[in-house]
This record gives sequence, C-alpha cells and structure tokens, in this order.
Amino acid sequence: MATETKQSCYERSSVQRFQFYLKHSGEHEAILRCVHNILPGEFKRIGAGKSSLDVLGVGSGGGEVDVQILSLLQSAFPAVPVTADIVEGSSELTDNFKALVARTTSLHKIPFTWHIMHSEDYEKQVKAKGDVKKFDFMHMIQVLYYVDDLAETIRFYHSLLKNNGMLMIITETANCGFDTLWKTYKKELYNDTITEYRSSGLKYEVHDIPNSFDITQCFNPSSETGECLLNFMTAKDNFYQSFSPEIRAGILDLLRNKCSSEKDGKVFFNASLSCILVYEEVHSAI
Ligand SMILES: C[S@@+](CC[C@H](N)C(=O)[O-])C[C@H]1O[C@@H](n2cnc3c(N)ncnc32)[C@H](O)[C@@H]1O
Repeated sequence: MATETKQSCYERSSVQRFQFYLKHSGEHEAILRCVHNILPGEFKRIGAGKSSLDVLGVGSGGGEVDVQILSLLQSAFPAVPVTADIVEGSSELTDNFKALVARTTSLHKIPFTWHIMHSEDYEKQVKAKGDVKKFDFMHMIQVLYYVDDLAETIRFYHSLLKNNGMLMIITETANCGFDTLWKTYKKELYNDTITEYRSSGLKYEVHDIPNSFDITQCFNPSSETGECLLNFMTAKDNFYQSFSPEIRAGILDLLRNKCSSEKDGKVFFNASLSCILVYEEVHSAI
C-alpha cells in the first residue's frame, strides 16, 4: 500500500471518535494503573548506572500516557537527563501532545523530537541514516493494529534498544470484546486502516490490564452516546448508515451476548488489554 494513501493515523473525525471513546471507556485510567504499578520497578533496572535516558513513543496520540511515563522516569532518576522522541502520524494529535507538554512544567527540561510520520517511514529513515539513535525505554500503546508488518515492526524497534532497555507494548487481549467483534465481522469492518485486529499472541512477559465499560446506550437507537461508541468500536463515521439492518442487528447481538457481561441491568463490554514487556535480551524468538 502506498504511504500517501494510507489513512491509519488519526485526523478529524477519527480524532473525535477516539477522544469520545477515551472519555467513556476508562481505557487510559486502566492503562495508567498498570503503568504506575509496573514501571517504577522496571525503570530502576533499566536506568541503573546510566548517565542519560532516552525514551521513544510510537503512536503516542495526544500524549496523555506518555507524560505520565516520563514523569515516572524523572521521579526514578531526578538527576539524570531524559530525552523523548515521538513517532506519531497524526499532526492533529501531535499538536494536542505539544500543548499538553507546554502545560506540564515538570517536563520542560525534557527535549522532545517530533517525528510526525508513519512508523514505517521512520523505520525507512533510520535505516537510510547511518547513525542510529538507540533508546532505553520504548512504548507502543494501542498502535500495533495499524502497522503494515507486525513482526518486522517489533524486530525493528527491538533493534533500537540500548543495553538493559525495554519495549512496552499495550494491545487488546486475545478474546476480549474488540477481538471477538473484529474477527466475527472481518469483511464488514476491515478497511485500509485496520487490516488485522491484532491481539497479543506474542509470548513475552505479559501483565493483564482488566477493563470494561458500560455500552448499555448502544442498544438504544436514539442515544447519541450509544451511536458515538458504536462509531468508534466499528471505526465508522456513522454506524447506522454504514451497515445493512441485518449486519447492525448481528453486531448488536454479538456485542451484547459474546463481548459483554450484564450487571444490574447494564451491559459491560470487555475491553481488557495486555501489557507485554519485551526486554533487550530476547526471552523468546519473535
Ligand atoms: C488508538 S490511538 C492510541 C494513542 C495513544 N497511544 C493512546 O493510547 O492514547 C492510535 C495512534 O496511533 C497513531 N498511528 C496509527 N498508525 C500509525 C503508524 N503507522 N505510525 C505511527 N502512528 C500511527 C494514530 O494516529 C493514533 O494516534
């Protein structure tokens, strides 16, 4: 697929859909609980004896999780200079990230290098350039669904790890609601953006990030919240216009009966994630 036509990076309506989803899903809160539990210990190991620490974020979006990660690293090593490189294809979300950094005074000492491009183009650029910047900590949070070649992408970023470095991948758990929805409605949902809804079949150190959110409103056709959630979950601008009545009914049935559980008359969608820690010393083959 030619890079110019690739639409995986969020702009305009997909930014809005994503922001609506973040407000209603508790996803960032769940990710941050995991990050706060796991990373302080990992950072101690990664940063031991180092005189500078270099971080790379891939597909960082608006940077809400990145700023927390960078703050944790700074608290672990207050005297060690930290740099941050960001590879993100959406200029709109990168502008939000820059604004967030500007509002976060504790991060003003960190020099940011913004690579506003697809991960695939960053990879090409790095390979073409002789001197490669390497990193102590890298993260790819909810982005692996969009890259062209999963194994090659992980191999490439893994090759950029410094001694004792670590790559953290956060992705949907196998068999969670998204996995079930996108595997069942492959033909209707897959597009040039998401060609494969990837869940964590990779074998490394894996931590669960339990999460679920209320999708009861999705079953009320006059609910705006329900429609916005359905739009994000199916990656469409208009759920009701994008599918035939039969497919819509099938998706709604699947969401209620295969992707969710019911409690107190409400329907909770299983949106669990996995946090995969890939170390510089490979524990198993990619
Ligand atoms: C689901 S969002 C996750 C954003 C952020 N990591 C978070 O969890 O809030 C996916 C992000 O990946 C970016 N993206 C998609 N495809 C990409 C690619 N090939 N290279 C770099 N970024 C990409 C999108 O623009 C978007 O910001």
